[in-house]
Order: sequence, then structure tokens, then C-alpha cells
Amino acid sequence: MGAAATLQNRGFVFLCNFRIVGHTHGPVVGVFGLLSSIHRSPLFLPHHAVFEQHPELRVRPLVPGDYGAWSALRDGVIAELPHPDFYVREDDEQAFFDAHTDPGGETIGVFAHGDLVAYAMVGFPSCDAAAQNLGALIGLPAVQHAKVTHLSSCMVTPTWRGRGLQRALLAARLALAHARGRPLCLAMVSLHNHSSRHNLLRQGLHIAWTGAIDGLQRHVAMIDLDHGLHFDMADEILLPSDDFVALREAAAADYACIGEVRDASGVRLRYVRHLHHDRTPW
Ligand SMILES: CC(C)(COP(=O)(O)OP(=O)(O)OC[C@H]1O[C@@H](n2cnc3c(N)ncnc32)[C@H](O)[C@@H]1OP(=O)(O)O)[C@@H](O)C(=O)NCCC(=O)NCCS
Repeated sequence: MGAAATLQNRGFVFLCNFRIVGHTHGPVVGVFGLLSSIHRSPLFLPHHAVFEQHPELRVRPLVPGDYGAWSALRDGVIAELPHPDFYVREDDEQAFFDAHTDPGGETIGVFAHGDLVAYAMVGFPSCDAAAQNLGALIGLPAVQHAKVTHLSSCMVTPTWRGRGLQRALLAARLALAHARGRPLCLAMVSLHNHSSRHNLLRQGLHIAWTGAIDGLQRHVAMIDLDHGLHFDMADEILLPSDDFVALREAAAADYACIGEVRDASGVRLRYVRHLHHDRTPW
């Protein structure tokens, strides 16, 4: 039995083939490591090719002392965004960072030769209104708000882009959400951020809601890790990815975006009608 299988049987949570070298509150398990101290149901993910191809990468949860490196990475990325709407900085960066470290969340950091080159955050919001639980925003019943995980910010430095890091980090965050018993994973994404939306869709999320959040036009993409969804695949509409009104109306009419069509004219989003055979409303 390999190291991975042994640890899985102990009920730990693996995050791909990441080399975790420390953790804020959990056990540290060698170079294959795990990222969570939560011994709920084990979830084993196949290792991700990006980490095989780049053995220099190291992954660990960020801790308070990493704030400076995290902040510097963000400064550099935000200064060079291809579109300003891709990411609008939080008013209080320190509070945002703190909210995404133990116990309210986790931030996974990816390091190359000691330098932070990417990060991805999960948040476990409380159910009160002030927590701005995205589940409340998109109309999930109150009883489900405690099951929500926010797939918050993810950034990759330009030299490390195009190698699948965001997708690998997304898989890792879904594993964390599962381990935490918060299977309703929600991510906010700009209508202009084609790469992020593409990666969310490739990881099995669908766009469940489109509307204005703090004056910004945003999708909320979602996956329920515990339940599948049902669609009428014959009832399909293709909508331009920048047609905010049409996208908002499609979501309100119970269509969900599950894919995209990319061609010379741009990106169109593929919506199919959501069926509610098994439960309501999700
Ligand atoms: C968005 C970001 C995190 C992506 O990181 P990354 O590791 O380079 O992403 P990946 O390499 O995993 O994936 C990029 C994917 O987007 C796809 N993509 C690129 N342009 C696209 C477009 N116009 N339409 C649809 N998909 C597109 C790529 O084809 C690729 O998918 P593929 O591997 O299936 O071909 C990175 O570009 C970044 O940090 N941007 C600035 C900050 C930001 O916007 N963060 C997200 C919001 S917090």
C-alpha cells in the first residue's frame, strides 16, 4: 500500500499531489501531505500534472506571517489586470486575508524557490447577514447557508499562468470544502474573466446566478459536492458572455450555464434548463 493510500485510510484529506510543508492547525504528513485537520469523510484526488511537471513547486497553507508576500503578489497582479473588472480589490486587505485563514477559511499558497507564485482562498462564512453569505444572495434556503463554502480569490503570477495552476487549486479547494462538511461551493466571477469562468466550468461548477454585487456585474458559479444536477439538455440557449441582461434573465428563468463556445466572435455561454426532479430548489 502506498503512502497515499495509507493516509487515505486514516481518514485524512489529500489535496492532489501537493507538497504540503506545514499547516496552521493540522497534522503535517510528509511531502505528500494533507491540508486539513478535519477527519470527516476522506476524499482522494488524483495528483495534478502541473505539480509533476514542476517539482520545484511547494504548497502550503498561508499563515499570518505570509501576509506581506500575499499582498505583494496581489499588488503585482492587480496592477496588470487585462480588464479592471477582473478583480476589484477588497476595502480592507488585512481583514480579507485574516478571514481566509484558520478558522474562518484557508489560503493555499504555491511557492517556487521560496517565492509565492500563486494563492487560492476558501472561506467558510457564517449565516448571519453581515457575513455576506453568497448562498443568501443567490436565494439558497437559510437552512443551507451553513453548508456554503466561498471559493474566494485566486491569483497566479504571470510567469506561472497557462499551466493549469488555477484549476489544480480549484480542485484542492473543493476537497477542503468537502472535508469541512460545506459542500455548497460558490464562486463569484466577473463576466469578463473568461479564464476563471472557463476553469470553474471545467471543474464542474455551473453558473447559477448573474446580477449586481456591490455595483459590479457578477456571476455566481456553484457546485453541490453532495448532489448532482439534472438538466433538460434539449432546452438550450446560447448567449453572448457580455450580455448582462440576457444572462441575468436566463438564470432567473432557471437556466444554468454549464459550458461555453469559443470562436472568433468571442465567448458564448451555453445555458440549459435546470430540472428539479429530486429536491427543491437545488
Ligand atoms: C485567472 C488566473 C487565476 C488563471 O490562472 P492560470 O493558472 O493561468 O489558469 P489556467 O492555466 O489553469 O487556465 C486558463 C484557462 O483559461 C482558458 N482561457 C483563456 N482565455 C479564454 C477565453 N477567452 N475564453 C475561455 N477560456 C479561456 C485557457 O484555455 C485555459 O483553459 P484550458 O487549460 O482548458 O485550455 C490568472 O490568469 C490570474 O491570476 N489572473 C488575474 C487575477 C484573476 O483574475 N483572478 C481570478 C479572480 S480572483
